[in-house]
Amino acid sequence: MAKTYNWNSPETAASTLPSPVESLAGRDLCSIADFSTDEIAAVMKLAHEVKADPGKYRWALDAKQMVMFFEKASLRTRLTFETAINTLGGNAIFVDQTQSPLGERESLADMARNLERWVSVIVLRTYARETITEMAQYATCPVINALSDLEHPCQALADFMTIEERFGTAKGLKFTYVGDGNNVCHSLMLMAAQLGAHCTVGSPKNYAPKADIVAQARAIANETGGSINLVSDPVVAVTGADAIYTDVCTSMGFEHEVTKRAPIFKPYQVNEQLMAHAAPHAVFMHCLPAHRNAEVTDAVLDGPQSVVFDQAENRMHAQKALLLMLLGGTARETARQ
Ligand code: CP
Ligand code: NVA
Repeated sequence: MAKTYNWNSPETAASTLPSPVESLAGRDLCSIADFSTDEIAAVMKLAHEVKADPGKYRWALDAKQMVMFFEKASLRTRLTFETAINTLGGNAIFVDQTQSPLGERESLADMARNLERWVSVIVLRTYARETITEMAQYATCPVINALSDLEHPCQALADFMTIEERFGTAKGLKFTYVGDGNNVCHSLMLMAAQLGAHCTVGSPKNYAPKADIVAQARAIANETGGSINLVSDPVVAVTGADAIYTDVCTSMGFEHEVTKRAPIFKPYQVNEQLMAHAAPHAVFMHCLPAHRNAEVTDAVLDGPQSVVFDQAENRMHAQKALLLMLLGGTARETARQ
């Protein structure tokens, strides 16, 4: 017979979730740097547990409401958040904001004061980072960054979960990102630093990651034994790497630069020749969607080293762990009577 947990019992929470859960309950995730190294490790640990035994958490967020406002298109992020909350017993409400930016019809502060009366968590995909941080400042419930121009923290959680599955640990791992120093790159650098990995970014001149995020990642890496290294030569970047990651050359919101960027990023394409410089056991990673035969060739994306669909699957497991932590949910296999 399924074990029934007491929803409100702190003892239950303590016995079923990793220790930093109390410090994460009610918190926001605007940036990977919002969490301490221990807190990140706790989310990762829970993500693996949730993936291994989803039934244990089937009703952990019974009747909790999650609202999602997206100013940009999404396949993975939207559907993995929806499947995550649905399979924890809660419910998702999706609001398409692609035609009207958040804050235009009503101030973010007023939106927050409404939303917190109805829902337990707010998930935002925006252009400006400030739209997310401002909502987080005003809302009393947790706010999660589902991608802005600056960061994509939920992607980084799933990506390093995938690395842990493949390599056991990210500590000491040689992780290389090749391409645009964009939102995904920023969160990956911070995440690599949190977990003590050695992160190299190979990007064209003028497309390196932002200096303040590089400095932030280096400060974290100094504490964890990791490192952050910026280079411009793609071969130097990937040589000896355990994991090679790339993303599109032109992110959402920068579409007007496609023609200008294409020739600049051509030498950074991840193809079989470039992969040959990595360690023989190296994995290839991409957040998706990929522009096939632009930043990565079909042969690499569909090849034996590619783990891109594991990453996509792990978006759901990692976000389940994140929601459990932020909403204070405890393992519970059965619905309340
Ligand atoms: N990787 C990712 O965030 O995909 P979507 O843009 O489809 O959500
Ligand atoms: N850097 C890409 C990631 C998409 C998931 C973008 O922002 O469009």
